[in-house]
Amino acid sequence: MPVAIITGASKGLGRALAEAFAERGWDLVLDARTEAVLKEAAAALSAHGTRVEALPGDVTDAGHRAALVAAAWKLGGVDLLVHNASALGAEPLVRLEELPLEGLRRALEVNTVAALGLVQEALPLLRAAPAGAVVTVSSDAAAEAYGTWGGYGASKAALDQLAAVLGVEEPGLRVWAVDPGDMATDLYAAAVPEDDGPRPEPGSVVPGFLRLLAERPASGRYGAPALLEGGR
Ligand SMILES: NC(=O)c1ccc[n+]([C@@H]2O[C@H](COP(=O)([O-])OP(=O)(O)OC[C@H]3O[C@@H](n4cnc5c(N)ncnc54)[C@H](OP(=O)(O)O)[C@@H]3O)[C@@H](O)[C@H]2O)c1
Repeated sequence: MPVAIITGASKGLGRALAEAFAERGWDLVLDARTEAVLKEAAAALSAHGTRVEALPGDVTDAGHRAALVAAAWKLGGVDLLVHNASALGAEPLVRLEELPLEGLRRALEVNTVAALGLVQEALPLLRAAPAGAVVTVSSDAAAEAYGTWGGYGASKAALDQLAAVLGVEEPGLRVWAVDPGDMATDLYAAAVPEDDGPRPEPGSVVPGFLRLLAERPASGRYGAPALLEGGR
């Protein structure tokens, strides 16, 4: 069976993706920092009968990233790497004049540097896979200038550029940066606690990711809402 590494898979979008892949027979290597929540998610996902390795840890830890890839190797390799774990840099978000530089560094470390670290670690296995693919989870904030989203948006814009160049450098792989659109998750609530307006559940955008895997379009940046409607 194909093997996927999904970071930040204890809840939100990562968990919804893990659920969809487990249902389709994928073996999974998952992480998140909060061990109890991750283990609970892994136990539920195991009910689908596929192998689920849940490794608690922080994606910014190089040893943890190596352990994720080693666990995937034991399951047979890496067919798909999803870099989904993310940091906002400030919770709630604040204007740039107030953004702690430490917060910006943290957003860059989690969202950008760790993504490249994990890709570097997994590349030999991705290249050896019959249809290796990397998904980096982006955001509208990477492309639009929304007040208070500057630090987070800058880290996602940098992630988009890493993904774009990786796609050029690795023509044998597919590298997709995916903007999932707004979703009702803890991350959004932490970013803008006063905005409790309705927004889609993370599971609603999963078909867009599945479509990428099924159709394997060219490497590039895709919006999940557009993917769901049939466009790019
Ligand atoms: N929600 C939205 O509206 C929205 C919009 C556009 C893009 N996105 C993107 O969608 C992705 C998923 O976000 P979400 O909204 O689903 O967030 P979420 O529900 O808060 O889930 C985030 C997941 O990542 C884990 N995580 C966070 N930091 C981590 C770290 N340093 N190392 C390992 N795991 C870590 C969390 O668990 P622990 O906290 O236990 O580590 C959790 O499993 C992110 O890339 C986000 O930027 C979200």
